[in-house]
Amino acid sequence: MFRFEALFVLYCCIITASVRGQREFPPDFKFGVGTSAYQIEGGWNEGGKGESIWDYMVHNYPEKVVDGTNGDIACDSFHNWQRDVEMIRELGVNMYRFSMAWSRIMPTGISNHINQAGIDYYNNLIDELVKYNIEPMVTLYHWDLPQRLQEIGGWTNREIVHHFREYARVAFENFGDRVKWWTTINEPLQVCQASYEFDGNPPSADFPGIPSYLCSHNVLLSHAEAVELYREQFQQTQQGIIGIISDTSWAEPRSDAVEDLEASNLYLQFSLGWYMHPIFSKTGNYPQVMIDRVGNLSQQQGFYKSRLPEFTEEEIEKLKGSSDYFGINSYTSVIVYQNDPGNSAQYPVPSFDHDRNTLGYQDPSWPGSGTGWLKVNPKGMYSLLTWIRNEYDNPLVYITENGVSDRGGTKDVDRINYYNQYLNAVLDAMEDGSDIRGYVAWSLMDNFEWRSGLTERFGLYYVDYEDPKRTRIAKSSSKVYANIIKTRMINPDYLPEPEVYVPGPNDDPS
Ligand code: NOJ
Repeated sequence: MFRFEALFVLYCCIITASVRGQREFPPDFKFGVGTSAYQIEGGWNEGGKGESIWDYMVHNYPEKVVDGTNGDIACDSFHNWQRDVEMIRELGVNMYRFSMAWSRIMPTGISNHINQAGIDYYNNLIDELVKYNIEPMVTLYHWDLPQRLQEIGGWTNREIVHHFREYARVAFENFGDRVKWWTTINEPLQVCQASYEFDGNPPSADFPGIPSYLCSHNVLLSHAEAVELYREQFQQTQQGIIGIISDTSWAEPRSDAVEDLEASNLYLQFSLGWYMHPIFSKTGNYPQVMIDRVGNLSQQQGFYKSRLPEFTEEEIEKLKGSSDYFGINSYTSVIVYQNDPGNSAQYPVPSFDHDRNTLGYQDPSWPGSGTGWLKVNPKGMYSLLTWIRNEYDNPLVYITENGVSDRGGTKDVDRINYYNQYLNAVLDAMEDGSDIRGYVAWSLMDNFEWRSGLTERFGLYYVDYEDPKRTRIAKSSSKVYANIIKTRMINPDYLPEPEVYVPGPNDDPS
């Protein structure tokens, strides 16, 4: 009897699994693939391009990138863009998400000098995409601020709102006839918190507790201004959409205890809520928990006002609803709990970490060897999408980045498993009612992974950095992703051979 029951359960599981495997993405669900300018273009000083904060950092402080590499050449997409479009076509995606380098279009970031060669470069790329019915999905800012603007304070100087709006205007005027999809800023959390709080992304300010809030404030205002400009002067004729992309890991509460649930909420409000609450909630303002915590602590610390700046009524009105879609980048999860009020985790005072006051770790059973931070927990994607649905009244969501890194090789089984599992989690959330309209895999090809340099590979295509031509090779995962797009289904048993076998450190030699 026992054996019969066990067999029956196994049978049911098999049926469920195969039914699950047959679930389809709706016909209007869009698939895409992404990159960003600094990570792939190279040509850092070619065609009249100005210096960006990344150029400045890698040339002056090469030790800040783990392997001492830089994006001077990267994948050399400045010359290889036609090959890139070939790969995009092979994948069969509906859209290609890429960013424009502000300093390629305006070398100093300021609108008195517009670089025609930069405009031509993006025009060629866009024309090639449009020729093959691939929607260009353009991010205006993916971390590469013109260095000259940094010299006057970068995102912490309120003047940037004006400069960003003018940059956006040039982009809308030159490309808006063909670009129907704009993103103002990619991952403000990384632009501000990970650039100002500690010695992270440039300008690597290592100045906790103050400039990251200023930076975020100006990023949000810049976003809102660019959106207002687009809506008032371009949207009606150009008929595109515009929005912002924010990122977070899923914060899994350590237990069901109230403090742990609070910790999860704190973590998410201080990452996603910081940027999305002003745009997607009815208040048009920062999450109340941030206003309260940063306000109270600032007072206790002797500041004459909160370190979290305040929006005016007019700014609140501009921010509310200033995104046509909810763009979310997410890769992994963290298990969170609260630091005690005595700050035994010893966060600097003041600091963002101290304001939020949570601690986190990752479950050792979660796989992931490509990097220190990216551990595989597909359930976290489901939980995050569910949280977004509940928190923001089921907004229209595009997952604008998701993927996993490894250390090389073209038979990338771990990446295939990652995509299969995470896309299944997306389907789970959609079945529960989340309004998810599309998914962008990160990344089209291996590229310069910021301070991890060339050590981590995120690509569906392998890039041979030893080869001056930067030859690209289709990994197994690119074929799996193409198959998902073609069939609209996930087939967990499909393991195609790569275009050329390049061994990877995790390959099973048998
Ligand atoms: C998010 C960033 O937008 C992208 O540039 C980066 O490569 C990926 N995360 C992976 O770390």
